[in-house]
Amino acid sequence: MSNSQNFEQRHIGPNPSQTKEMLDVLGLNSIDELIDQTIPKGIRLDSELDVCQSMSESDYLRHIAEVGGLNKVYKSYIGQGYYGTLTPSVILRNIFHNPGWYTQYTPYQAEIAQGRLESLLNFQTMVSDLTGLPIANASLLDEGTAAAESVTMFETIRNKKRKNNPANKVFADQYLFEQTISVLKTRTSAIGLELVVGDWKSFDFSDDYICALIQYPDALGEIQDYRNFTEKCKEKDILVGVCADILSLALLVPPGEWGADAVVGSTQRFGIPMGYGGPHAAYFATHEEHKRIIPGRIIGVSVDAQGNRALRMALQTREQHIKREKATSNICTAQALLANMAAMYALYHGEEGIKAIATEIADKTTAIKNYLASNGIATINEKAFDTLSFKLDASEKEKLKAIMEQHEINLFYGRNGVVVMSLDESVDAEDFQKLLNAFDQYFGKNSHQVFPNGTSSIPNSLKRNSNFFEHEVFTKYRSETNMMRYIKKLENKDLSLMHSMISLGSCTMKLNAATELIPVSYREFADMHPFVPNDQAKGYHFIFDKLEEFLCEITSFSACSLQPNSGAQGEYTGLLTIKAYHEHHGDFHRNIALIPASAHGTNPASAVMTGMQVVVVSCDEKGNVDLEDLRLKAEHHRDNLACMMITYPSTHGVFESRIKLMCQIVHDHGGLVYMDGANMNAQVGYTSPGSIGADVCHLNLHKTFAIPHGGGGPGMGPICVNDKLKPFLPGHPIKHVGGSEGIQAVSAAPWGSASILLISYAYIKMLGSAGLKEATNYAILNANYMKARLENDYEILYVGEEGRVAHEFILDLRPFKSLISAEDVAKRLIDYGFHAPTLSFPVAGTIMIEPTESEDKAELDRFCEAMLCIRKEIDEIARGEYPLDSNVLFNAPHTLRRVITDEWSLPYTREKAAYPLEHLRTEGKFWATVGRVDNAFGDRNLVCTCPPMEAYMEQD
Ligand SMILES: Cc1ncc(COP(=O)(O)O)c(C=O)c1O
Repeated sequence: MSNSQNFEQRHIGPNPSQTKEMLDVLGLNSIDELIDQTIPKGIRLDSELDVCQSMSESDYLRHIAEVGGLNKVYKSYIGQGYYGTLTPSVILRNIFHNPGWYTQYTPYQAEIAQGRLESLLNFQTMVSDLTGLPIANASLLDEGTAAAESVTMFETIRNKKRKNNPANKVFADQYLFEQTISVLKTRTSAIGLELVVGDWKSFDFSDDYICALIQYPDALGEIQDYRNFTEKCKEKDILVGVCADILSLALLVPPGEWGADAVVGSTQRFGIPMGYGGPHAAYFATHEEHKRIIPGRIIGVSVDAQGNRALRMALQTREQHIKREKATSNICTAQALLANMAAMYALYHGEEGIKAIATEIADKTTAIKNYLASNGIATINEKAFDTLSFKLDASEKEKLKAIMEQHEINLFYGRNGVVVMSLDESVDAEDFQKLLNAFDQYFGKNSHQVFPNGTSSIPNSLKRNSNFFEHEVFTKYRSETNMMRYIKKLENKDLSLMHSMISLGSCTMKLNAATELIPVSYREFADMHPFVPNDQAKGYHFIFDKLEEFLCEITSFSACSLQPNSGAQGEYTGLLTIKAYHEHHGDFHRNIALIPASAHGTNPASAVMTGMQVVVVSCDEKGNVDLEDLRLKAEHHRDNLACMMITYPSTHGVFESRIKLMCQIVHDHGGLVYMDGANMNAQVGYTSPGSIGADVCHLNLHKTFAIPHGGGGPGMGPICVNDKLKPFLPGHPIKHVGGSEGIQAVSAAPWGSASILLISYAYIKMLGSAGLKEATNYAILNANYMKARLENDYEILYVGEEGRVAHEFILDLRPFKSLISAEDVAKRLIDYGFHAPTLSFPVAGTIMIEPTESEDKAELDRFCEAMLCIRKEIDEIARGEYPLDSNVLFNAPHTLRRVITDEWSLPYTREKAAYPLEHLRTEGKFWATVGRVDNAFGDRNLVCTCPPMEAYMEQD
């Protein structure tokens, strides 16, 4: 491979001469020397990583096109929660293909995230309007888990309200989608709730029920009228959760209008390709009164320090997993990018457009319904939006299936001879005719034409009368010009990897290479329904097999599940396999999870969701797990110990040398070890969870393996396990996956967000074994170089035995706390054009810096210079040159609007505020679009949908 073709040199930032300069600063001759001082010898792998040879970018693109060619893209009418859709090209190109959108981080730094915050607010407004409920979150992972999240929310509401008479049953109608029922089984059984699956028409409304979940329209396509049912539930304090098809709500009375307590579902058919299962954004809407226990993130309206309107993540400090073991949800990464796309789709079409799309689908569906009836097939469902179901005997079903396959058409062949078919906006006149031709052949007739005649089978009593999308934002962007400019306008407000490094510790914001991403939208991958027969998806399965093999080799484990859609979902899944293992051995009582105090909030939140009890293990003053405390607690709980959860290298950025001993202690007391793989970027090629002694780990593919963060998702959190846990890997009701005694599904789709697995596959293929190890080398070199540049001016909180850090490190800002806060530093970095590092995790009052291997020395230096300059600014305050309540840190970030005013009363110059370093003046600068956002104001005055336009106008 010629040098110009070598991906490794594109992915890794520093070139050889920069590497030498950096090593000089560290006083070292080679990276090997650094690694020797960083990664303890006792935990190193015995042999070199052996995944694959590296591949050039052009070879990879050829390869992936060939693999894609193995997938057969038939026209799918399978439905069941996944539908064909037409992604407007303006959205595909300007969001999905645009690193300005997909490389953004979760909008915690609101001042440089107003664009995606606005778009997510549009998403919430869209969901709220369509469902008829006042408050919606900014996406969840998929419909199945969103339904499960509603159950945990309902449990909290119901059992808080009637403490003396707690209920523990959950009713799920038999015609929820099968994958939703499976996820509900997983989630309810783990926390001791009883799931009763039955017919809503014969539901007994007994007092033992927390809630009832129904599907609208149901899985067979029937538009049920649930009004009386809901009323009766209300009389009995049984909460009602509705899984609804978002597009159908344009035509049907929204569940919020007939009494639903929560409405959940998927927004996939709003322009998001099926991608063999994902990623797609799920939605969740409920009543105002539940706003404090709603799962996921909510975007809200607030004001900035100058009183201007500003958006931010509402109730930010109450994000569920931050409550650790008291959390009712572990959701962290969600599906922000896809939510943004769905919101733009709604804006682009507006009310009339969405209604027209839905109406056309309903008309076509009715036409087919009548056609089938005229040929002797009466559909099971009388009232249909987009879905028809009918029953055939076994031989007829096989005959129909064979004919459909000849015509390259997929229907859904369910249990007991039930055939289901769903239409969608991608079904054009030609597709429609092809479908009829296939049926004509089945009926033994000559082909003929059927024309939809504008009638639908939706009864008047269930037709929607209320308007939606009345906010101006849904009318302004109907032309491509306007939409393109709106997307760009929002993008310009947000800092992404397009602008500068994003050194968020524990988040690994590395390069998301274009070659890794481009194939995700190839038709062969994008247009695949997750339930097509496996032989139509050979390309996907080739990638799954290889990726599983690679991830097992990297982690030294023997099996992998690609199902979990985020790191936290991986934690949940891994812990459930541990639980299943203990139960398999008759140890039903093993339910104690030991978790270090320094763990990420999702760890204890996930443990509690599996029904485990969390026991916190303390850390010593160096940030290491306190071995004695671990020993004591393991000993104390030995009869009931289920597991320990540990992050490695630690959340403090250090390779603890006694990790093997810790694992041993847990094993000696009958527990298993779960390793949180968030910090895998420091391990690949040198050590591994399996070799250190863990039994299971998850991998955040959206950190170590190059899936972009998308502004808060998508992500993927596959788990890898050893032989002990392999039998318990999760299954799926529709596709054969998982272990021989697998737990039920943890995600709606069998292989989670399958299409983005291509990104991690590409990353590994193009770097190869040697390149992956080199990435680890540079992740560690870059972190240690930055530490060396900053350590004379700031205290570095934790270092390893030889004074080195792993791939990230913590700067302690507490020594300055009488002068400034850690937040002030984070906001001042914005004035220097940078996103703040991770703030106050894992230690309050600190920042954690993780540069990743993808940044070169020049960028690292730029960041270090900013931090050193800020240090001088702190000194100025210390010397009393500026007051505590009016200095460049306290007032940061400085917006252009603030700096360009005729009146300037601050005690420093405008230049000092805006151009603290020369390159900001000469090379251009990223400006925050709002000043410091007032979180408390926003929480006190919660507004989570687009405010009326007058509110915008008042400001101008
Ligand atoms: C250490 C650690 N564990 C778990 C998670 C949760 O991962 P996810 O956001 O993908 O659910 C994170 C996320 O930042 C993390 O840093």
